[in-house]
Amino acid sequence: MAKMHIIQGDITRLQVDAIVNAANSSLLGGGGVDGAIHRAAGPELREACSKIGGCPTGEARITPGFRLPARYVIHAVGPVWHGGKRGEADLLASCYRQSLQLAADHGLRQIAFPAISTGAYGYPFDEASRIAIRTVRDWLQAHDKMEEVYFVLYSDADYQRFQQIFQEETQGR
Ligand code: APR
Repeated sequence: MAKMHIIQGDITRLQVDAIVNAANSSLLGGGGVDGAIHRAAGPELREACSKIGGCPTGEARITPGFRLPARYVIHAVGPVWHGGKRGEADLLASCYRQSLQLAADHGLRQIAFPAISTGAYGYPFDEASRIAIRTVRDWLQAHDKMEEVYFVLYSDADYQRFQQIFQEETQGR
């Protein structure tokens, strides 16, 4: 089974097959990690995204990485948190599953995820982390196409907390 890694830092600097962007449904850029990725990739990224014509929440689309060290960007549109009774959990899990599937369909072997929806979209960090870990772990158990999956946390606090949650989820504690 592929290895899951937890790292802290700026996802735009990773030289992997694909980095995942926490995008919005227009795919035309924004703040947070979306803004960082577009700044680092250069104007061709927005150009490529504008040709896609948007992406529904819970789904993902792929473009080249242009000036990024990553070869591709997978734009996943996470759910906005509305309290948890509007299918947010399933939509967030779908972002991870669809991103992995898209990477596999393109023969990619390494993928890096930010903490989708936990910033501007307000998803509670702990719950979003559990969904990310469980969804990725389950997908990797059912598919043998991925070699490395990176969970990239931006702040030290998020990195520490995610590691604790990962231990709980994988040691069954
Ligand atoms: N590298 C890795 N992670 C990052 C980076 C970075 N350079 N910058 C921010 N993050 C982290 C944030 O700390 C947060 O944990 O990405 C996570 C997701 O936060 P947001 O970027 O705010 O994304 P999200 O909550 O999914 O909201 C998406 O915000 O930027 C807009 O266009 C985007 O409308 C969309 C919405």
